[in-house]
Amino acid sequence: MNDLVEFKNENGIGVITINNPPVNALSPGVPEGISEALDQISKDDSVKAAVLIGGGRTFVAGADIKEFGNMTSGKPRGAGLLPLLLKIEDSAKPVIIAIHGTAFGGGMELAMAGHYRVAIATAQFGQPEVKLGLIPGAAGTQRLPRLAGVAKAVDMCVSGNPVNTEEALKLGIIDRIIDGELLAGALAFAREVAGKPARKTRERKEKLGNAEENAPIFSSARETAARKQRGLLAPAKAIDAVDAATKMPFEEGCKFEQKLFIECLFSQQSKSLIHVFFSEREAAKIPDIPKQTNLIPVRSAAVVGAGTMGGGIAMVLANAGIPVLLKEVDQAALNRGLATIQSNYANSVKRGRFSQQVAEERLKRITPTLSYDDFSNADLVIEAVFEGMTLKKEVFKELDRVCKPGAILASNTSTLSIDEIASATSRPESVIGTHFFSPANVMRLLEIVRGKSSSKEVVATCMQLSKTLGKVGVLVGNCRGFVGNRMFGPYRREAQFVVEEGAGIEAVDQALSDFGMAMGPLATGDLAGLDVGWRIRKEYRHLEAPGIRQPFVEDRLCELGRYGQKTGAGWYKYDDQRRASLDPAVSELIRKWVDEASIAQRQISAAEITDRCLYALVNEGARILEEGIALRASDIDIIYINGYGFPAHRGGPMWYADTVGLKQVYDRISEFHRQHGEIWQPAPLLKQLAEQGKTFAEFRREQGATA
Ligand code: NAI
Repeated sequence: MNDLVEFKNENGIGVITINNPPVNALSPGVPEGISEALDQISKDDSVKAAVLIGGGRTFVAGADIKEFGNMTSGKPRGAGLLPLLLKIEDSAKPVIIAIHGTAFGGGMELAMAGHYRVAIATAQFGQPEVKLGLIPGAAGTQRLPRLAGVAKAVDMCVSGNPVNTEEALKLGIIDRIIDGELLAGALAFAREVAGKPARKTRERKEKLGNAEENAPIFSSARETAARKQRGLLAPAKAIDAVDAATKMPFEEGCKFEQKLFIECLFSQQSKSLIHVFFSEREAAKIPDIPKQTNLIPVRSAAVVGAGTMGGGIAMVLANAGIPVLLKEVDQAALNRGLATIQSNYANSVKRGRFSQQVAEERLKRITPTLSYDDFSNADLVIEAVFEGMTLKKEVFKELDRVCKPGAILASNTSTLSIDEIASATSRPESVIGTHFFSPANVMRLLEIVRGKSSSKEVVATCMQLSKTLGKVGVLVGNCRGFVGNRMFGPYRREAQFVVEEGAGIEAVDQALSDFGMAMGPLATGDLAGLDVGWRIRKEYRHLEAPGIRQPFVEDRLCELGRYGQKTGAGWYKYDDQRRASLDPAVSELIRKWVDEASIAQRQISAAEITDRCLYALVNEGARILEEGIALRASDIDIIYINGYGFPAHRGGPMWYADTVGLKQVYDRISEFHRQHGEIWQPAPLLKQLAEQGKTFAEFRREQGATA
């Protein structure tokens, strides 16, 4: 063998153990090692059956994702999995696969080639390739329907979601649940089946159904995928591959799957999704903060303000098992906040997300209060009061007085300076921004804003906390709007400008929705409330440089009381179920306003709409990167995918620009600059990288994310 695979003869049962920590990925060397072990088993007459098991905490969590990159660059290492799977299946002695942890992707495909599968109760089984824009590439789409039936195979390959041991047994994916020690149970099972004829998965046909039964399964799966996984290639290919399993002999089905797998592997979508996978892990690394940095234990927390955000944040903490005080200014506000929390939990129970008992336990962790009295116990305080510097400073002054030394004092501000807020305390090193996104209990993104004095311990603790809370934490520097909202400004500005220049409201939203955004920019404004931006603009108007064009339609809509969904009207009008429809009155008003402002009207293509909006994001992103507000381009991508509905299969705005080519992006931005003036001044970094023929991904800063 090699050092990745170990072989032992346990009284006539050959035990093959995969030792490739941490997750026993099928890196080059693993299939080869298993293959050599099988050769020994076949040669050794004393061995009657084999058990294949994973060493450490799991069976096999999947392929080595780095290998996908090597394959597309024409440098695959190793022989791949398919020949090994046939060899396992062709073994004259039965091979029992013993599973704990996860059998995912290639791990699942490996498991299905065995003659039997046994697992402990906590194991999970799945084909999650679709999440990386791929389909199973080692006969997963061919063997899974033979074990689990066509409908379930389609469901698992298209959704990528796993099944647990109990369900796997019901489906026929596994043959027995092992109580107690896995290897001992697997050995006992092996002794029972040794010497008896064993079936090859690839020869099973009884669950493949017939054309009449299968047709509705495939057509409904295709329809659902087109709707729910809009714009994605892999789900449809996964369906085609399982479809092939029902129509073609196994070998042909495998070849067909291979062809589709390769198409997916070389697609930009898969490359983008793999980029997102690695970027999310990269975001957790902060160059100047070593892994061993001391973390501050967060055993109890407090939240100031029980409004939209504070209530959601309290739920997030409670959901993670952290007891939390929730403070308001008066009983009425506190009651309102609690009522929202209660109804959110009740909805989750109704939808079957968790039980009534779990909801009650979570609710019990939230203690409402009107005073700061018990704040001295809190390890972490998150402030979520109204957005206003004077108020925030008052709150932080109070927190400084009541909180224990070392407690983390965090603000959920979305625009204000963390440094100025910190200046209200005697301990700016304990102050940091934790910018949650609405609804806080749903959105995965957490921007962690590093002030100039925030200590490394406080930063490291908040990054770790994001994981505890089930969020993706991204460290950003302190500037107005930080990363996400700072870029969102120019994006929404352009959406308004194109409307002012003649594009239809629906055309703008449709163009960006077709690109893959979860929602168009104008509909997003209606959802978030147009008045939020209007109030901020009024406050900052004195900072605007004279002579620079500003969008005005949203301000006018707000003046008419059209704040968006909450008032039943904004860009669109809404019925009592908040369903949007176009309001001809708005279109008419806009035409009148632009006429008064003498803005020339013209036809604007969908391509121009998307370029204007997306390149506005990219240009601001380039500035943010150059200033070091974001540590790396991929951090910006993660922020946009998890906080702003940017399609993951496009890889995020900066990656998207890289795929278009920065020279082309720069040229287009320069064209906009000539047409629309100073607001389109190309970012110096974009210009530099375009001239050097480089990408944002290649640009790395050594320093930390600080303003
Ligand atoms: P909100 O208006 O829903 O809630 C603010 C709450 O704070 C009110 O219930 C108010 O009674 C309470 N409050 C005011 N002074 C207080 C005090 N001294 N002690 C205790 N409670 C006090 O506002 P929202 O939307 O929750 O925003 C809160 C913060 O979160 C703001 O800084 C905002 O910029 C930020 N934010 C808001 C997002 C959103 O989508 N709404 C998204 C991300 C951040």
